[in-house]
Amino acid sequence: MNNEFLTNLVYIISSILFAFGLKFLGSPVSARRGNLLSSLGMLLAVLATLTNGHMISFQWILIGIIIGASLGALVAIKAGMTQMPEMIALLHGCGALASVFVDWTAYHTHGVTDLTNTITLYLSIVIGGLTVTGSAIAWGKLSERLSGKPVLFSGQKWFNSALIASILILGGFFIAHPENYGIFLAILGLSFFFGVFLVIPIGGADMPVVISVLNSYSGVVACTTGFVIHNTLLIVVGALVGANGIILSIIMCKAMNRSITNVLFGAFGHVVKKSGPGEKKEAKAISVEDAFLILENAKSVMIIPGYGLAVAQAQHAVRELSEFLQKNGCDVKYAIHPVAGRMPGHMNVLLAEANISYDLLLEMDAANPLMDTVDVAIIIGANDVVNPASRHDKSSPIYGMPIINADKAKTVFVLKRSMATGFAGIENELFYYDNCRMIFGDAKQTLQALVAEFKSSQQH
Ligand code: TAP
Repeated sequence: MNNEFLTNLVYIISSILFAFGLKFLGSPVSARRGNLLSSLGMLLAVLATLTNGHMISFQWILIGIIIGASLGALVAIKAGMTQMPEMIALLHGCGALASVFVDWTAYHTHGVTDLTNTITLYLSIVIGGLTVTGSAIAWGKLSERLSGKPVLFSGQKWFNSALIASILILGGFFIAHPENYGIFLAILGLSFFFGVFLVIPIGGADMPVVISVLNSYSGVVACTTGFVIHNTLLIVVGALVGANGIILSIIMCKAMNRSITNVLFGAFGHVVKKSGPGEKKEAKAISVEDAFLILENAKSVMIIPGYGLAVAQAQHAVRELSEFLQKNGCDVKYAIHPVAGRMPGHMNVLLAEANISYDLLLEMDAANPLMDTVDVAIIIGANDVVNPASRHDKSSPIYGMPIINADKAKTVFVLKRSMATGFAGIENELFYYDNCRMIFGDAKQTLQALVAEFKSSQQH
């Protein structure tokens, strides 16, 4: 068996492991297994690449692995659960930057071999370049180092169109004169520049879609890099990541009732401060003791978690409360909105950490038909995903986004610290509804206080 054959065989095994890894990531029950399989696939791929005889100097690779792995581990250990989206944005940027460096090195050392090679190199540096800076801007916005609001200026669409036209025209020149280093660098520079202007007009509630689109781009650039350096595994893996990022983007757009083009090019998502109801009403607060009396008599409770659950780290406290409710003969379910929190699956991960059974979790479409039969909806640190303005207020930036219809429950409790807005920066009219009561305070402390009420009632 020659070396090339063995390497390709390992590549095929790795590809199969990646495909199954992705499949297992589809459910929280099997997600860990999915991660493990994909990591094993990556390990095999790296080993096969390093030992296939093409590698001349190992010391630089070793230095790269040590620096990369230490930085990665440090950032991952330090990042809190609520910082995951910004970290993911950063990782996409790093992946794309690595691909750009590989493309650049390939061009610098070997030039291009034929037309296909030139075109894939061109596509690779364009998509890679804009993904690097686009991800950096997304990271800045999500980590609040930059303003989360869309940055808009007059003539923005013309400016962006001119940038795209320049990149395309330079592409034509590059294909005609692939040996011209200057054109290569100009395309790369303009692509970096374009990434910034692609992402700055997007903001507010549209950021999750941007992250998953950038995820997809980072896959596509890995794929085109695979063509540039003739590495089959990179082509397969890049295509898998690219396709899965696009599928996730489409799912999230559907959840927000938007189209991808509208999110990316519509300069949508303006953060508009809106007053809630027409005439200014007072939101009504309720004490933990009174809330307990209502919960004690509830036959069905729907818990609706949001970003505040992650901030408060209240997942264990909510499990404790649901156990007391269940012991009391109450039917408890959780309604999960697809973009609740700050990353896809954020709520599922949190609730799984507290060992809350998957059977109790309902997706939005399954939960909504039940809402008007529910005695008490407990909203824990959610805001945008339960804002009824999305159903009727055409001027609202979240108009058309499907929500969890918490307002249809007989009584609604909202656990949050203040009347502050959520991610989209808009007031929530639900808080002023007659059936809604605010329980102000940190969600974990409120839930612990409710649990304490149940405990003391059992002792008497
Ligand atoms: P948000 O609308 O962001 O509301 C979160 C609420 O949690 C805030 O109003 C805040 O109010 C409350 N909160 C914060 N800390 C708290 C604590 N310690 N205890 C109690 N409450 C606390 O959250 P959501 O309803 O989950 O909606 C998610 C939003 O983020 C959507 O607009 C979505 O588009 C966007 N987004 C989603 C993703 C993904 S993929 N899930 C990624 C990026 C952005 P107080 O300050 O008054 O406590």
